[in-house]
Amino acid sequence: MSNSSPLAGKRIVLGVGGGIAAYKSVELMRRLVDAGAFVSPVLTRASLRFVGKTTFSALGSEPVRTSLWDAADPIPHTRLAQQADAIILAPATADLIARYATGIADDLLTTTLVATKAPVVVVAAMHTEMWQHPSVVENIATLRKRGVVVIEPEVGRLAGGDNGVGRLAATEKVLAAVEELFSGGRGQILHGKKVLVTAGGTREAIDPVRYLGNRSSGKQGIAFAAAAATFGAEVTLVSTVPVPESLGLKVVSVESAQDMFDAVSTEAAQCDLVVMAAAVADFRCKEISPVKIKKSQGAPQVVLEPTPDILAFLGSAKPGHQVLVGFAAETGELEAEARRKLREKHADFIVANNVAEHDAGFAVDTNRVTLVYEGSALALDLADKRRIAEKVLGFVAEWARNKGVWKDQG
Ligand code: PMT
Repeated sequence: MSNSSPLAGKRIVLGVGGGIAAYKSVELMRRLVDAGAFVSPVLTRASLRFVGKTTFSALGSEPVRTSLWDAADPIPHTRLAQQADAIILAPATADLIARYATGIADDLLTTTLVATKAPVVVVAAMHTEMWQHPSVVENIATLRKRGVVVIEPEVGRLAGGDNGVGRLAATEKVLAAVEELFSGGRGQILHGKKVLVTAGGTREAIDPVRYLGNRSSGKQGIAFAAAAATFGAEVTLVSTVPVPESLGLKVVSVESAQDMFDAVSTEAAQCDLVVMAAAVADFRCKEISPVKIKKSQGAPQVVLEPTPDILAFLGSAKPGHQVLVGFAAETGELEAEARRKLREKHADFIVANNVAEHDAGFAVDTNRVTLVYEGSALALDLADKRRIAEKVLGFVAEWARNKGVWKDQG
């Protein structure tokens, strides 16, 4: 994240609760500071059993505070509360959540929470049994009703060797949610929606060591999946490339066009939105050699056959509640080609990118696309692939609701 980040110059109070995940808030603080935010860490007494003040002082931008009484300032809580642009609680333990939900104000962090008008992001982390306890469920519902952003814990390894829901959400997810607060974002526009995204280039085997491939890095598809998750969707990402675990996404790993077809066709019918960002090979080898083809045998004759066209298949079987977004990688005649694909594959949108440009398309971090749909086209300026994904998803969600494809109001 650079200082063009929406976090640059923002004053953020990072409240650290007393849980084993407290060590992860150090990384969160560092990333917020890297993004240009002024971060005031407020450590609860319980958190000091897990992390030390020194670590936060060494990596932070503002003084670390642990008590209402340890600063020269007699009213640190009102000062912090008034100046904050946002407060993040990470980890938010069952105890901290309960105290915040009931308005208890008996230490610096809870008094700051009660005194603030700034948006608050609660990043919950605790054992599965605690997260599912009716008191925690009710407290979380109370906070949500008050407009608090709650980032739910993820499934994974917990303290003491247990497994289940309870892990602090990935740093990337928290950062994205906080960025969203400041970027005039459209909030949870995909809440309750199931979204399927494909990413990366397929590999079509020639023999056990060689394949036909393409230059897709998966960056654009992964950006769509991460943005959809931030917008509240339940996301499945079918990918040919490794996906950072920190994104906390459900990933189905595939290699060939046929693998991708199999994975997508089993998942798609239940999905409200499918985004086919993957660069799927159009052709594969008719016969795959079971053994490595030897150079000494001379150049092989490779006979190709078409792969299944996944987007066209989805278009032919599209349920009424589904929006289908395809891509088009073109080197010329951008809009005309995109419109042909829109028509022939029965998609609702085609995101067309000119892959001949050095700063757009394959493998780079930015993209410049034209969203082609019905009788219209919307050109989006060059932007980071994540911003492109957010803009496209925002537009598509609004279209789906206006058209009545999605019956909810978002
Ligand atoms: O991954 P990156 O490095 O970030 O690069 C991003 C990207 C350039 C790969 C991406 O933005 C993009 O354009 N993806 C689509 C590439 C592509 O395969 O375009 P196409 O014009 O050949 O295919 C049109 C559409 O049909 C695509 O949605 C494709 O997923 C789909 N398709 C194609 C062939 C096939 N057999 N099945 C398909 O579903």
